[in-house]
Amino acid sequence: MTAHIRQIEVYLPEPIESNEQLSREFPDWPVAKIAARTGIDIRHIAPAGQCASDLAVAAAQQLFASGVASRSDIDFLLFCTQTPDYFLPPTACLIQDRLGIPTTAGAMDYNLGSSGFVYGLALAQGLIETGSARNVLLLAADTYSKLIHPADKSTRTIFGDGAAATLISGMESGSRIGPYVFGTDGSGAQNLIVPAGAMRLPKSPETAISQSDSSGNVRTPENLFMDGAEIFAFTLASVPKLVNEVLARAGKTKEDVGLFVFHQPNRYMLESIRKQLKIDPERFAIYLEDCGNTVSATIPIALKRAQEPQTGNPRVAGRLRRGVFLGRNARGMGCLAGP
Ligand SMILES: CC(C)(COP(=O)(O)OP(=O)(O)OC[C@H]1O[C@@H](n2cnc3c(N)ncnc32)[C@H](O)[C@@H]1OP(=O)(O)O)[C@@H](O)C(=O)NCCC(=O)NCCS
Repeated sequence: MTAHIRQIEVYLPEPIESNEQLSREFPDWPVAKIAARTGIDIRHIAPAGQCASDLAVAAAQQLFASGVASRSDIDFLLFCTQTPDYFLPPTACLIQDRLGIPTTAGAMDYNLGSSGFVYGLALAQGLIETGSARNVLLLAADTYSKLIHPADKSTRTIFGDGAAATLISGMESGSRIGPYVFGTDGSGAQNLIVPAGAMRLPKSPETAISQSDSSGNVRTPENLFMDGAEIFAFTLASVPKLVNEVLARAGKTKEDVGLFVFHQPNRYMLESIRKQLKIDPERFAIYLEDCGNTVSATIPIALKRAQEPQTGNPRVAGRLRRGVFLGRNARGMGCLAGP
């Protein structure tokens, strides 16, 4: 029995934030500059009261409505988020109940950012190929907008809210997912962090005080902080090596790969990786315009977009079966080749 990605469905919340709106608030960043740097035209922003679980449930409902599987087929639910509904219980348990997934199914949350989808595939594959599950529902959803200070243009321009539901099933034949290369470097933890609000630094009147950084971005310790330059340097130093390692492990070369689908942080970062690896644009997925960086949902969203006739690149259509999918973040990395 080998694990296969059967289907992906995506849900983006309705409210939209455009570059025009952002540029009115941050006049030193004109519309064209934001679009050129980030590759993003609009982001979807979950309104107050709409949480990651709501986005994930909506994506999963589309999956079930398509008929690819029924709720009773699911025997494990994995939920990747960094913006859970509560500290506890695990949001996966709430989702199990709302979706009507059998109480005999396993369900768990895990907290990862951009590497989350690749980790989820590896976990799902492990469950399936050890005979512990047959159909794994992998949900990735985040509402980073709720962590971002309204006056922090560095993060507001990049991140959007969204969810993806992926069905991974065991099948008797066909190509396998993998291999993977994993790595972790916790020394970069301070470069993408919400410092206050959990146990180390609980919320207090002091943590609600905002400060402006040297670029004029305003935030409190309760908000998301991103050191873009540090993450950029780390990524360029790490990802190309990982790509070569995963290709070597798969016994493939770059030329064998139909489509490279990396985590989608922003166009500038992606183009820098693409140029360093010398991959031509036709074999390199960039799907950010209508959703921005949706954290662990970016890879499944990009895979879905690449397959759709209206958004897919005709030159890459049909190449997905031999794609390479890669996720990374400042603390850990996961890479996967699907040869
Ligand atoms: C965020 C990032 C795009 C900023 O680029 P940078 O070159 O490091 O940014 P700098 O502050 O040095 O600014 C360089 C120029 O880009 C502009 N710029 C930076 N961020 C921008 C944004 N989001 N929109 C528009 N312009 C931006 C600056 O205004 C500056 O313009 P200037 O040359 O006209 O003065 C880049 O650091 C990056 O991609 N980092 C990785 C971040 C990431 O992956 N985050 C997600 C983790 S999941």
